[in-house]
Amino acid sequence: MGTPAPDAANPAAAGLSLPAHVSGRHIFVGICGGIAAYKVAMVVSRLTQAGAHVTVAMTPSATRFVAPLTFQALSGRHVYTSAWEHVETQDPQHIALASRTELALVAPCTMDCMARLATGRTDDVVTLILSAIDRSRTPVLLAPSMNAVMWSQPSTRRNLETLRQDRFEFVGPDEGWQACRTVGQGRMAEPEHLLQRVAERLVK
Ligand SMILES: Cc1cc2nc3c(=O)[nH]c(=O)nc-3n(C[C@H](O)[C@H](O)[C@H](O)COP(=O)(O)O)c2cc1C
Repeated sequence: MGTPAPDAANPAAAGLSLPAHVSGRHIFVGICGGIAAYKVAMVVSRLTQAGAHVTVAMTPSATRFVAPLTFQALSGRHVYTSAWEHVETQDPQHIALASRTELALVAPCTMDCMARLATGRTDDVVTLILSAIDRSRTPVLLAPSMNAVMWSQPSTRRNLETLRQDRFEFVGPDEGWQACRTVGQGRMAEPEHLLQRVAERLVK
């Protein structure tokens, strides 16, 4: 019996490789306080392996699900958890981060974050950075993730419509198994799907 090939040599196991134009690009990943936050570690890792410069910011709730250190290790960069940090510049940090961003992804995007974005709130570091991104030039992808009843609430439907009108783009959610041990609409799009959309929407 031969030795099994490691995942890195097995595209089917490791996921399809990302196109070359992802390399060297500045991608912002905002993480909210949803149970699917752990899946975004795979997204950050794959983008970094593809040569992208991935900057991660987390809401205070997100840090209760996955430690910022995980994303720092995977991206090789500082992880922003507060609007009051000035790590790389003396200019307002959120403006500097937003101006160099070529594509932003919020995953998981909670019901609460959708509501904040739909009403222009900027009271956490993720929404603050997003507020300084011009969506007419830079795609902002939202990957909602929530219980099926939360996804079907009239407020969520209204916010979804507002956000679409405001040029936010959506990836998912899918239907399937949910952490609350039910099956329904609201499961976050799978990491491979998120990566595919990021690669498609990054202008070559
Ligand atoms: C165990 C647990 C799991 C949660 N999962 C989700 C979720 O999957 N989606 C969601 O929209 N909210 C979820 N919430 C609620 C959010 O964490 C809460 O609304 C929070 O205010 C979101 O903050 P943020 O949007 O700033 O990250 C969960 C809460 C708990 C305690």
